[in-house]
Amino acid sequence: MIKPDATKRNLIGKINSYLENAGLKIVAQKMVRLEESQAREFYAEHKERSFFSGLITYMTSAPVVLQVLKGENAITKSREIMGATNPAEARPGTVRKDFAVDIEANSIHGSDSIESAEREINFFFSKEEIVE
Ligand code: GTP
Ligand code: MG
Repeated sequence: MIKPDATKRNLIGKINSYLENAGLKIVAQKMVRLEESQAREFYAEHKERSFFSGLITYMTSAPVVLQVLKGENAITKSREIMGATNPAEARPGTVRKDFAVDIEANSIHGSDSIESAEREINFFFSKEEIVE
C-alpha cells in the first residue's frame, strides 16, 4: 500500500519504479480513500498501541494505492525495498529512506507474512481484480 503522505506528494510513480526494479510485478492496483472503519480493521493488530488513533487519522487523511505484488519471495523482496519502519533507520535506496517523512508517515506498507498477505489481499481485492 502506498500511503497518504506519498500519494499527497505525487510519489506513486517513483515508488512503483522501486517495486518494479526490485523484481516485483504489480498484478492489481487501485486507488481508494480508506474509511475510518476500514483503517481500524486493517490495523487491528495495533489497536492497543499509543500511536493507534494518530495512525488512523493519518491513514484516512488522503488516498492510498492498494496493490497486489507478485514475484519469487515477494514478501522478503518487498520488505527489503521498503526499508525499516523508521526511515531514520532505513538503508539508502529503500523507499522509506528515500521518501518517508517520519516513523508514522512512512510512505508504504507491505504484508509481513504469507498469512498477512492473504488476509490483506482478501480485505481489499476480489479475485477478478487480480490480473496475471
Ligand atoms: P507496515 O508495513 O505499515 O505494517 O509497517 P511495519 O510492519 O514496518 O510497521 P508496524 O506494523 O510495526 O506498524 C504499522 C504502522 O504504524 C507503521 O508503518 C507506521 O505507519 C505506524 N507506526 C509504527 N510504529 C509507530 C510509532 O512508534 N509511532 C507512530 N506514530 N507510528 C508508528
Ligand atoms: Mg506491519
